[in-house]
Amino acid sequence: MTEKIGIGKAHSKIILMGEHSVVYGFPAIALPLKDIEVTCLIKEAKEKLKFDFYDTLSTAIYSALDYLHIKDKPISYEIISQVPQKRGMGSSAAVSIAAIRAVFDYFDQPLSDKELEILVNKAEIIAHTNPSGLDAKTCLSDQAITFIRNVGFKSFSVDLNAFLIIADTGIHGHTREAVNKVAKHEESNLPHLANLGRLAEIVQEAITQKDIQTIGQAMSQAHQELKAIGVSIQEADHLVEVALANKAIGAKMSGGGLGGCIIALTDSQKEAQAISEKLLEEGAVNTWIQKL
Ligand code: PMV
Repeated sequence: MTEKIGIGKAHSKIILMGEHSVVYGFPAIALPLKDIEVTCLIKEAKEKLKFDFYDTLSTAIYSALDYLHIKDKPISYEIISQVPQKRGMGSSAAVSIAAIRAVFDYFDQPLSDKELEILVNKAEIIAHTNPSGLDAKTCLSDQAITFIRNVGFKSFSVDLNAFLIIADTGIHGHTREAVNKVAKHEESNLPHLANLGRLAEIVQEAITQKDIQTIGQAMSQAHQELKAIGVSIQEADHLVEVALANKAIGAKMSGGGLGGCIIALTDSQKEAQAISEKLLEEGAVNTWIQKL
């Protein structure tokens, strides 16, 4: 008999606009990265699992088994991930989603989107204490998401003749520290945060108008604002400059910052490839190209 395997997959995400300002009530826009995936495999094991509630993956598996009332079943799990950790790409949410899907698949149980979202958010709360839910929502969505804190999410389609290059600085992001740093100087940061909010609104409108130039300009302006509030790092600034010097229409850091990724926009696949190669030459440890 062949071994039974439960399989669950999930994709990653990236914040296009509105990181940090979203904490202060301004809108943020996040994009699913459907080709950058995490897979979880569940197999039979000899021993029962030991759970570690400091670990999102373990917590996600526990939440799923607990929900199904089968915590004592001996299983093992394995993660195969294309999503680097702590780079603002939603690795922990994607891992949780893949793991929960794999558990339900292994036990042949149906899983509704609503149940999945509840279980993922449970694991995310343990991993991030106070997550906005944006990561989980975008990793669960096939569409882009706009989010306003304490108001909610809206999904919308993006259909541009454009390409987003995502480049990893190779340095772990530090979202919590960055959020605290911004809060410490809230008063002097507020004008910058308001500008970031306004730029996110401009991008939202420009996406509906398919105005790639305006999106790019707003991205580059947002990078300057994120620099001004102290959440970028030199390596990210350098990659943004490299992208702009190589014909990107716009570029910025993405996510909590103090590490993590930058994103750059272009309207040609050929340029996207060229920018990506330059970014790799100039220090990026990995790049991806996403059609928008
Ligand atoms: O680093 P990421 O992709 O998880 O994004 C953090 C976004 C912040 O606005 C900085 C924080 C938040 O909770 O929204």
